[in-house]
Amino acid sequence: MCGIVAYIGHRETLPILLKGLKRLEYRGYDSAGVALLNKDGLQVYKKKGKVAELEALLSTASGLSSRIGIGHTRWATHGEPNDENAHPHYSESESIAMIHNGIIENYDVLKTDLIHKGYHFQSETDSEVFLKFIEDIYKNNFCSLEEALRLAMHKVVGAYAVVLINREEPDTMIAARKGSPLVIGVGQGEEEYFLASDATPIIEYTDKVIYLEDFEIAVVKNGQLQIRNIENVASDPYIIRLEMELESIEKGGYEHFMLKEIHEQPRSIADCLRGRLDAENQRLVLGGLREHMATFQNAKRIILTACGTSWHAGLVAEYLFEEFARIPTEVEYASEFRYRNPVIHTGDFVIAISQSGETADTLAAIEMAKSKGATIFGVCNVVGASIPRATHAGSYTHAGPEIGVASTKAFTAQITVLGMMAIKLGYALGTLSGSRYRELLLALQAIPQKVEKVLGLNEKVKEIAEVYQGARNFLYLGRGYNFPVALEGALKLKEISYIHAEGYPAAEMKHGPIALIDAEMPVVFIAIQDSSYEKVVSNIQEVKARKGKVIAIVTEGDEQVRSMADHVIEIPPVEEAFSPLVAVVPLQLLAYHIAVLRGCDVDQPRNLAKSVTVE
Ligand code: AGP
Ligand code: GLU
Repeated sequence: MCGIVAYIGHRETLPILLKGLKRLEYRGYDSAGVALLNKDGLQVYKKKGKVAELEALLSTASGLSSRIGIGHTRWATHGEPNDENAHPHYSESESIAMIHNGIIENYDVLKTDLIHKGYHFQSETDSEVFLKFIEDIYKNNFCSLEEALRLAMHKVVGAYAVVLINREEPDTMIAARKGSPLVIGVGQGEEEYFLASDATPIIEYTDKVIYLEDFEIAVVKNGQLQIRNIENVASDPYIIRLEMELESIEKGGYEHFMLKEIHEQPRSIADCLRGRLDAENQRLVLGGLREHMATFQNAKRIILTACGTSWHAGLVAEYLFEEFARIPTEVEYASEFRYRNPVIHTGDFVIAISQSGETADTLAAIEMAKSKGATIFGVCNVVGASIPRATHAGSYTHAGPEIGVASTKAFTAQITVLGMMAIKLGYALGTLSGSRYRELLLALQAIPQKVEKVLGLNEKVKEIAEVYQGARNFLYLGRGYNFPVALEGALKLKEISYIHAEGYPAAEMKHGPIALIDAEMPVVFIAIQDSSYEKVVSNIQEVKARKGKVIAIVTEGDEQVRSMADHVIEIPPVEEAFSPLVAVVPLQLLAYHIAVLRGCDVDQPRNLAKSVTVE
């Protein structure tokens, strides 16, 4: 996890690092730190907590002017969040400083060895061990720091993106990656370089970027960039143009990124459909699928793998694929899939879903399924991330940058892509008739305006949030397509408001959770007029009979549920298969408002990080 940012060039470095760290803070916020190199030497400043704490520390410091520096915002894996474990770390001689994103798995043996050699450790991190291991090679082999890093990379096991600066070479910056992301921005006159975990700290200065590949080492020396691999073979940097707008990573007048992202959904879903779906002309084109359509159609089985919210999107897709295409579909937690030696055949079609495209569990599941001969298709949001590069093909969700740790617009965009895939497959296989195909295309095209309408209920949802902000538990119940929505609603509430919440299939309630219901228990029902409506209505009765409080998401005009529920939130009528896209929106808003009312840090909830790049 964690975010790294670095700069070398002609500009004042510290403001670039601090701004970059704030943009990357969604990746981790246990501590923040910078190292600056100037005529006075190499200085490290670091502090537990958010970037604001680091800024406070720096406000009393002097001699901060510099043209080269590195910065880090941490999500702790080894060692608690404190000042000592914060990055950057110093080498033993204090002449080198390094930032690291990832985990060094064999740090323990390396550390024991280094302690025998007389090294001292200021922190409990694996990162400091990595740096001192590099330093040991550097000193003993009388080689360059780049060469020492290269040799060390042959020995360390794990994942890393690292950037090093060295007091003895003030015009040089060295970076490398394996498993963790690293982007290099090529700035003005091609003589300044920005390095970061993702492009957000870079876009304001340049749109020319290079995505470093695994086992590559980048060296910027006297304004020149050189990339070599671990075997010391040079490669030509492959520069691509970023298509990201600065406004897309700023709050644009909203109090929180999460609220902005919830409100962006009509547009993000429309962006996801744009150029792909044309209902009037009955056209559905998914570029990424074109070459693999035959494999997709001949698949004996579809396996969806993902984590968290993306896994919930996978659950919705299971219903979509089985209903539209009649192909057996399974949904797997990537972390479990990877480790249980699953049966995978060459004809299996595996779909990996990820907002960040960097989730380590999902990446590991992809590698495993690939090694067993399956075709892997990625559904990702972040362009150029590791997952899109590790899969055989894929479709981007085009939701735009999602900064709030709680995923919202990425979820609806994932379902939109998966919905298009299911329609396309069903039509190609003949399991969807021509008329149903047309109907579904029209229904999907109409989703953005329905979501827009639901956003108009913000104030109403806020009033409900005021009533239940003090609750200690919540139940979320839904059936069929909206069972995953119940899970998603509960996850949103848990992660940002720290209220215990459980999602359940509505009918399962009577097999256990009903014991929890009393007058203190709010129960959120997704009770729209779909094929399980009558059954869900009975489940609402069961809750009311036990004095539970019912908040129901219903179809506009529904009088039956209104007469039973304590609160209703009306959503427009919507095709059942795509109802999750609309029904989830009030649940996102409910979690958001409860979290705000409880004074929680909505965009950066405790213990979490946006991309989970550790297994
Ligand atoms: C969602 O709100 C969570 N923060 C989390 O569950 C997330 O969906 C999960 O970590 C998967 O991330 P990804 O989509 O970037 O792979
Ligand atoms: N493993 C390192 C640490 O605990 C880096 C963690 C990260 O990538 O955030 O400090």
